[in-house]
Amino acid sequence: MAEHSAVEIIIAKRDGSRLTDAQIDWVVDAYTRGGVADEQMAALAMAILLNGMEPDEISRWTAAMIASGEVLSLPDVGRPLVDKHSTGGVGDKITLPLAPLVAACGAAVPQLSGRGLGHTGGTLDKLESIPGWRASLSLEEISAQLADVGAVICATTPTLAPADRKLYALRDVTGTVESIPLIASSIMSKKIAEATGGLVLDVKVGSGAFMKTLELAGELAETMVRIGGDHGLPTVALLTDMSVPLGRAAGNALEVAEAVEVLRGGGPADVVELTVALAREMLALAGLTDVDPAAVLASGEAYPVWERMIAAQGGDPAAPLPRAGHVETLTADRDGVFACDALAVGTAAWRLGAGRARKEDPVQAAAGVLLLADPGERVEAGRPLLELHTDTPDAVGWARAALAGGVAVVDEPPARADLVLATIR
Ligand code: URA
Repeated sequence: MAEHSAVEIIIAKRDGSRLTDAQIDWVVDAYTRGGVADEQMAALAMAILLNGMEPDEISRWTAAMIASGEVLSLPDVGRPLVDKHSTGGVGDKITLPLAPLVAACGAAVPQLSGRGLGHTGGTLDKLESIPGWRASLSLEEISAQLADVGAVICATTPTLAPADRKLYALRDVTGTVESIPLIASSIMSKKIAEATGGLVLDVKVGSGAFMKTLELAGELAETMVRIGGDHGLPTVALLTDMSVPLGRAAGNALEVAEAVEVLRGGGPADVVELTVALAREMLALAGLTDVDPAAVLASGEAYPVWERMIAAQGGDPAAPLPRAGHVETLTADRDGVFACDALAVGTAAWRLGAGRARKEDPVQAAAGVLLLADPGERVEAGRPLLELHTDTPDAVGWARAALAGGVAVVDEPPARADLVLATIR
């Protein structure tokens, strides 16, 4: 690879130029190997955040991130592979019912996930609340489980897109996370390296999401769908509402319990609706259009797939889930309509111990917030509205402070957006 200078590349982007393919390939590779310093990559990330990237420049950046590591090579597992990624939201446990549902419908889901940071919980943290469940699998174990059960949710391997691992940690401490080219290339490099046959993206919009407006979420979704197309990965994005929590549970074990209700054919209507909408798109990408995921979910047929998926990774699906040592209930102070903001609930769950501030922090399996009424529901004074669960009662005051202003009983029902706001193909 021809020699380049990191300073020249930073200056080019600082002055608003498109980086050449050779510059992109060099800087991503050199950064991964330690030949470009963190402070230089931080300056480049800030220049990208401020000046943006052209569509083909983002695709090349993504290709360089993929090339920094291995592309997973899974043997034929006898079913079409299709995956889903969510940009993260409060109470977003959808992967838990979705993977077994799509497997029950005939596809295979290789979901390699990360852990949660901040107010949105990570899928692995949720599953680790199940006694015995193990996140780390070898490539052989992933392949065998895909062929046998049809669904794997496990930790991503350090060999997939290592440039992203390093760059994401740097962006986290340099105020450069919120760049659409960097977010899109980060997510898509990991998914393309996973070698799935199709990808459905759930791009969240609203107070509890990364993207607070439909316009920004749409731009992120379009960028990711384009990157998928450029790399031969059929990709569809749903833009979905995250102004209120999804379902009634936010917190690791609380969300697993809710996912199990959904897999048994019950559960909150919004969780069921989104699970089915995403499953339909995944099955369409897999070419399986003659099966109705709504009927499969309602019949409870996906539940035995969940049991096998959990047991295959050492978990005991029948074991009781951890329960918090301390539970406090908040009640309505007047008659009216229950209003509940996603960010307030996500922050409260995080402060109760369900999430982490730094990636090395532990999480509490049983901590979180349980809604006892639906947002928009009419309630009477004294009606229990929320339960706060924690093993660290000292955190309750801090969690209540997060809820102040975000959770209230009001006169008029707040305008409620549709759950699925748009689809981008
Ligand atoms: N999730 C990712 O994987 N990368 C980002 O940059 C943001 C969210």
